[in-house]
Amino acid sequence: MKSFCVTTPIYYVNDAPHVGHAYTTLHADVFARWHRLMGDEVFFLTGTDEHGLKIAEAAEKQGVDPQALTDVTSQRFKDVWAKLLIQYDDFIRTTDERHIKAVKAFTKKIYDSGYIVKDTWEGLYCISCESNYTEAESENGLCPIHKRKLESVKEDNYFFKLSEFEDRLIKYYSENPKWIEPETKYNEAFSFIKSGLKDISITRSSFDWGISVPWDETQVFYVWFEALINYVTALGYESDSSRFSNFWPNTVHLIGKEITRFHCVWWPAMCMAAGIDPPSKILVHGWLLVKGEKMSKSGLNKIDPSELVDEFGLDQFRYLLIKGSPFGPDSEFSYEELKRRNNSDLANNLGNLLSRVVAVVHSKCDGISPKCSSDSELKQDVEDAVEAAVLSWNNFAPADALEAVWNMIKRTNFYLEKYEPWKLEPGDRINAIMGDSLEVLRIVSILISPVMPTAACDMLRRIGLKIDLKNVDFNEEIRWGQYLGGVPVIKDVPLFARIK
Ligand code: MSP
Repeated sequence: MKSFCVTTPIYYVNDAPHVGHAYTTLHADVFARWHRLMGDEVFFLTGTDEHGLKIAEAAEKQGVDPQALTDVTSQRFKDVWAKLLIQYDDFIRTTDERHIKAVKAFTKKIYDSGYIVKDTWEGLYCISCESNYTEAESENGLCPIHKRKLESVKEDNYFFKLSEFEDRLIKYYSENPKWIEPETKYNEAFSFIKSGLKDISITRSSFDWGISVPWDETQVFYVWFEALINYVTALGYESDSSRFSNFWPNTVHLIGKEITRFHCVWWPAMCMAAGIDPPSKILVHGWLLVKGEKMSKSGLNKIDPSELVDEFGLDQFRYLLIKGSPFGPDSEFSYEELKRRNNSDLANNLGNLLSRVVAVVHSKCDGISPKCSSDSELKQDVEDAVEAAVLSWNNFAPADALEAVWNMIKRTNFYLEKYEPWKLEPGDRINAIMGDSLEVLRIVSILISPVMPTAACDMLRRIGLKIDLKNVDFNEEIRWGQYLGGVPVIKDVPLFARIK
């Protein structure tokens, strides 16, 4: 059995989750579900990032204790993930005792190896990013991402000697050209490293909402330095060596493009300093934009995923988010586009195929399904589509996988329109056409199940099958020719409602 671990960034808990966060988490969920379907042993990790100035500031504004704020907001993330049917295996909070312990062990190891030293930190800081900027990067004194005024800071802190890892990172990047995707992000991070690395300040003395430094209790860790360590905390770093060695070598981090430097430059160097390998893969995606602007917690353009689930339905929302905004580039998020795609892809293409097939089986075959044929004219097209979908799934391109499945759906609708079984007399011809269409619906259900888990089960139920998708041999099940018929098909309300 292969192992597969997928992670999301851990989200700041200064406010509620929006569709941008759901975008990353949903991708992680569909990758995890795909690997479970493949029979892999899966560990899907998400969680919340709860320390730092940004959270302390939000708590102060609300007049509450930071721990009380994080307890409430962290739960809001969990609630939304439950509503989106996100099946994570672990939800880590950086205020968890296990994380605090792992951070102390990890950083102590680096400190003892001589990679942490004391120095003075001076620069410009954005509290929303929890990141510092140079004069050249700032836009007239404002943060280039949040457009918020950058604070001038000067403190005596501990520094991580990132500069000492320049050569090792260059070697690692040269030997692992696919470790960051897309290639543009790999190139960006690699150029950044080659242009020369500076040591980074990793502790703070001006506030105390953080994990205290084990060798100097007057300082707490800088939130980013500590947060990155969550990935290994949850996998059992220094606490469960068999889980750690099983999953860490097969771990994929999903991240938004604004946090590339932390994950692709700092994090591999931190791993090297602590004596572990960097993660096996980092997949970087762009932003969901609303009228050209990044959807953000601090902006006025955030959209609550729960509201969209209420309006479109769970599987519809999951499909629309994955298909409408392919993993990689920025993409504009619009309600009109969701509606259009819902009506065309779901209500018209897939919903219509299912209801047509069920209706004809009822009117011409007494409601009992015929068997599929072994030499259907659909067979080759379906096999090609399955191959394309599997390839796309394995390349972390779920929107392309869905595209391949929808080509199969459209092809089958054309097939029905060509032969018009509803006009034929009951008999062998109708039986073959309906059996083959039911076989397509069976295969479609399996292939869409990572994205649309409840619709997939419902489709299988309606075509009279009791397949437990948690326990299938995928390679066996996906082959053409398994729909044996002879079972009642079920008439029901339309699978997907049209949105007016
Ligand atoms: N806490 C850090 C991450 C630490 S990981 C060790 C952080 N948190 S965040 O709450 O700001 O969320 C960041 C992640 O949310 C992004 O990297 C991205 O994955 C996702 N997104 C937030 N807004 C988004 C969009 N508008 N569009 C797509 N993804 C977005 O950074």
